[in-house]
Amino acid sequence: MSQFRSADWFGKTGKMGFLYRSWMKNQGMPADLFDGRPVIGICNTWSELTPCNAHLRDLAESVKRGVFEAGGFPVEFPIMSLGETLLKPTAMLFRNLASMDAEESIRGNPIDGVVLLTGCDKTTPSTMMGAASVGLPTIVVPGGPMLNGKYRGTDIGSGTAVWKLTDDLKTGKITNDEYLAAESCMSRSAGHCMTMGTASTMACMVESLGMCLSQAAATPAVDSRKKVLAQLSGRRIVEMVKEGLTISKVLTRTAFENAIKVNAAIGGSTNFIIHLTAIAGRIGVDLCLDDFDRLGSKIPLLLNLMPSGKYLMEDFYYAGGMPVVLKELSKELDLDAITVTGKSHAENIKDEGICYNNDVIAGHDSPIIPEGGIAVLKGNLAINGAVIKPSAATPSLMQHTGRAVVFETIEDYHARVDEPELDIDETCVMVLKNVGPVGYPGMPEVGNMVLPKKLLDKGITDMVRISDGRMSGTAYGTVVLHVSPESAIGGNLALVENGDLIRLDVPARTIDLLVDEAELEKRRQLWKQPAYHTDRGYVSMYQRHVQQADKGADLDFLVGNSGSVVTRDSH
Ligand code: FES
Ligand code: MG
Repeated sequence: MSQFRSADWFGKTGKMGFLYRSWMKNQGMPADLFDGRPVIGICNTWSELTPCNAHLRDLAESVKRGVFEAGGFPVEFPIMSLGETLLKPTAMLFRNLASMDAEESIRGNPIDGVVLLTGCDKTTPSTMMGAASVGLPTIVVPGGPMLNGKYRGTDIGSGTAVWKLTDDLKTGKITNDEYLAAESCMSRSAGHCMTMGTASTMACMVESLGMCLSQAAATPAVDSRKKVLAQLSGRRIVEMVKEGLTISKVLTRTAFENAIKVNAAIGGSTNFIIHLTAIAGRIGVDLCLDDFDRLGSKIPLLLNLMPSGKYLMEDFYYAGGMPVVLKELSKELDLDAITVTGKSHAENIKDEGICYNNDVIAGHDSPIIPEGGIAVLKGNLAINGAVIKPSAATPSLMQHTGRAVVFETIEDYHARVDEPELDIDETCVMVLKNVGPVGYPGMPEVGNMVLPKKLLDKGITDMVRISDGRMSGTAYGTVVLHVSPESAIGGNLALVENGDLIRLDVPARTIDLLVDEAELEKRRQLWKQPAYHTDRGYVSMYQRHVQQADKGADLDFLVGNSGSVVTRDSH
């Protein structure tokens, strides 16, 4: 009798064994596949509605080959796939739902180890959260970035180029035909956004956590070596099952601390904070917002990638990829942390980590910016915290007091921002309410509000902006995000009125509404909580149970894990 949990299905005698095996055999599976060998679930986020992951169906075949080679039994299954570009109102609303899908699909099935095939932004954290709540041996195969966008002789990056080309079209620098041509030039191969947006950030997070094979994060989706990595990952997961190398042995506090530092060095997205916190919550590592500032804010920025820099993920791969970053940060990181290989980072990269292009990956002693990480702000405007990415902000605005110009909702913002009579100048602070987890719902990427047209026409390029929403990993500006508690549940952000003074002081890590507490209390009494958007379905459950951004925006009842114990028989 096999020692693995799948034996509770395939190793059974009598009626139940018949049931569990017979239907599987309709796929042409020989009897000896059911002999107690490790069954490997390949959790696939493939979907044609998630173009960034559309190649994962092919990639799964490489994983299967590896599983077979190592003596395992691969079974591929789909879960809800979250595509960043198409899903309304925001893919983030469904991250926790997809995580439930992953968790229950893994636990309820005869699976001994899991391979997560991921790519687009939310597909990585959702599957990792689900897998962490089960706790089986788990390896991630990041799907890889698209090849560099190429347009009229220059490299254009996913997302970042869209904002720029749209401005060029508006100001008549390019024609509509040229604009349309750029559509196909930007997205010219399989893979996810090739800027250092959230998808690339998540892939690098996976590699820094030790959850994938070395080089997996930066290897382009269509590079033949991506298939090799998938096959080797298939081989490796079988060994991990035999070794009992579970996900919680890799996802230690040390691994999370390494990931925070690496994210600072690569200039990763602010969305990293929310996703890493949620994953930590599932695995039982106590990570708080202050950890990101304490561990990350003094780390030098090494990667010169768009949106803030000039290169793209393909260049990062050719320059040496993540092993170079790990090596450069060796003084800051704990490279003895164990990874899915069963070995430490240090052992994994001992023959790698040579930088082939210092303009893409700077050295630790000659960084692009001496301090690259994310700053956590607190004050009466964000009692439980807010975040800002100083490397993406304007230095002269880092200490700024200005008059609030308030938008109650995103619709209110769209309706009024370009009105010529809007009472606003470049010293004002733009405030956007009701775009938090509960308020929108789902905390969309709208925090980097486009400036009023009349100020853009004056040549103003940045202003302080504050909201309880998120911003795209491809965007930047002096943008205070993730304000917690959010306005829709009565956080002080809800009480801001036009004309109030707001003081941002990034060096002091504060964000304050300069209105006295007596006045705030008066406003609090008059404040009315917005009604929930719906009384049925997932969105209803989400609005009632979602935690605030500083806790990772997971549903309260999903925090923690339920293990991999096999439950009752189905018949
Ligand atoms: Fe999928 Fe950017 S839209 S990764
Ligand atoms: Mg995004």
